[in-house]
Parts: sequence; C-alpha cells; structure tokens
Amino acid sequence: MTSAVLVTGGAGYIGSHIVAALARAGRASVILDNFQNSSPGVVARLVRLAGTPIPLVEGDVRDAGVLRATFAAHRIGAVVHCAGMKAVGESSARPLAYWDVNLNGTVRLAEAMGEAGVATLVFSSSCTVYGQPDALPVGEDAPLRPASVYGRTKRAVEEFLRDLAGADARWRIAILRYMNPAGAHPSALIGEAPLGRPNNLVPLMCRAVAGEFDEVPIFGTDWPTPDGTGIRDYIHVDDLAEGHLAALDHLGSHPGVLTLNLGAGRGYSVLEVVGAFEKACGRPVPKVVAPRRDGDIASVYADASRALALLGWRATRGLDAICEDAWRWQRAGGRYA
Ligand code: UFG
Repeated sequence: MTSAVLVTGGAGYIGSHIVAALARAGRASVILDNFQNSSPGVVARLVRLAGTPIPLVEGDVRDAGVLRATFAAHRIGAVVHCAGMKAVGESSARPLAYWDVNLNGTVRLAEAMGEAGVATLVFSSSCTVYGQPDALPVGEDAPLRPASVYGRTKRAVEEFLRDLAGADARWRIAILRYMNPAGAHPSALIGEAPLGRPNNLVPLMCRAVAGEFDEVPIFGTDWPTPDGTGIRDYIHVDDLAEGHLAALDHLGSHPGVLTLNLGAGRGYSVLEVVGAFEKACGRPVPKVVAPRRDGDIASVYADASRALALLGWRATRGLDAICEDAWRWQRAGGRYA
C-alpha cells in the first residue's frame, strides 16, 4: 500500500483543489478538517472527481489526540498543512484565535508528525509576509514586514519551521508563499465557497453578478498604480495545487527547508480583473468606488523564477481562465450545501 498525503484544511478552497490534484496524479489523500470555514459537502464532490474513497477526519489541527489517532489509523507519508485562519481584517480583531490556530496548530501538527516519524511537510504561507515590498517583482529573499496579525502569524510559523529543520536534519519542509489564488476546478464540482459575504475580489464579483450582493466596492482608485487601483498576482487555484505536488516531489530528494513564491509572476489591477471577469461572464460587474481598505497595499506580484528553477513549475492558466472557471463554478451554484 502506498502512503497517503494528509491535507489539513483539505475541505477548504485551496486544500480541496490540492486533494483533487493529488488524485489526478494517482496519489491518495486523507483530509483533516474541522469545517470552521468549509463544508462537508466538498468531500462527496472530491470522491466523484477522484473516483476513489477519500478518508475524512473531522477534527481540529490543535487537537493532539485527533492528530495522533489520524497518524495511527492511516499510512501517511507527507503532510500538506493548509488548515488555518486567513482573513486579514478579522485577524486584527481576533489575534488570540489567529495566533492559536495558525501557530499552535502547526506546533501540534509538527509534534504529531515527529511522533509518527513523518518528516515531509508543505506549509501554506502567503505573500502577505512581505507587506509592501520595496521592489517588484518580490523575490523570496525580500524583507518580511507583514502588515497584519494574520501575516505575522504566517511569518512566525515560517520561523518555527526553520528552527525545527535547523535542529533535526530529517525534516523536509517546503514553505510556499501564495500570491492571490482564484478560479475553480474546470469541472465546476469544486470551487471557492466562502461562508457569508466574500472578502476577496473574485468570489465577490461572482456573487454580485449573480445578484446576491449589490455592488463590488473598488477599494481605492488613488493608489500609486497606472489606473489607481491595487495590483495583485492572481494565480489559478489548480496551478497553485499543482505547485504543491511539485514541491512534494522535490522534497523527496531534498531534505531541509525550501521557501518559494507561488504566483503567476505578473500583476493585474482591480479594474483589469473586473474587465476580464466581465468578458468571461458577458455581463457588467456592478461596482462602486469606495475608500481604501485597511491593511491593503498598492501592489505586489511575485518573482516566481525560483519555483521554475527548482521545481520546474510555473503557472500555466491565465486571468481569463481564472475568471471563466470562477464564473462556471458560480453558475453551477457556487456552494456545496
Ligand atoms: N478588492 C476590492 N474590492 C473588494 C475586494 C478586494 O477592490 O471587494 C481589491 C483589494 O483592495 C485588492 C484586490 O482587490 O487590491 C485583491 O483583494 P483580495 O481581498 O481578493 O486579496 P488580498 O490581496 O487582499 O488578499 C489575498 C488573500 C490573503 C493573503 C493576501 C496576500 O485573501 O489571505 O492575498 O497578499 F494574505
């Protein structure tokens, strides 16, 4: 029996696409999720896509007992750790929850991995650890100056993982700094299904065009960018998921810590994304100019050359595919329930 990859947060937006990508590559997953920000309904969709059963453990990544039981019950060879809290705005109001889930969750997980003799870990970090970079595109060696509680928890987990690997050469850890994941699986069976009003641009446009919300606020038209709106590096969630597989493969022959940006390597402004989405759905996006959002930065996009050099990975799906797939998912309901 080959070993499975434990995907914490495997029912979430990114985790579910990683499980689907693992299945495409013929690899088994075990999902650990507490459904705090995800729906159990995703699992049946993943089983449909995979064509095989996918074990699900409902539990919290901070729960040592649940982790121990999971490693005892399943033959796990590696872990992709996506479980965490990720809303920038919420993080300043709830620092305790963010530090507890994001940092303590990772410490508990690493302890359980150590006990179980599993040393391969891919960690979901974020380009938010950079804050506003001095130079663009931002490379992995740029200074880390996160502007939010959320970003500081990600930076702290990165440091913790480097300390672990520094003390024990058996660890094989990839720290993946995501740019802005968006889009959905082209089957429209899985996609981003935020509970409540979406914070992020693409899911909010989906629901606004579908008539669920009035208008998409454009958070600032006075940023120091060519059209005055914020610039981000949007990466198709399936490209991102495939980056995790490439990282797992790389770790198989490279112990130690690897830190990589996963992005498309080019930036689009909010208005450019709105235009691409309008093209994909054939309808106008209802929008209104609004003040800048707290904690936002003007512009960030990745230097993704290290991922290409070390993993042979690059994003292959562009902004049009992101918008078409996101809209297809929305038209299919955009939810699991
Ligand atoms: N935006 C709007 N209106 C909205 C939502 C977003 O104008 O209703 C703008 C933002 O100001 C920004 C861009 O669209 O310029 C993208 O915003 P998102 O909220 O979609 O994404 P962020 O870049 O703020 O955040 C995302 C993830 C975070 C992660 C961060 C890293 O959601 O988890 O990328 O930069 F930390």
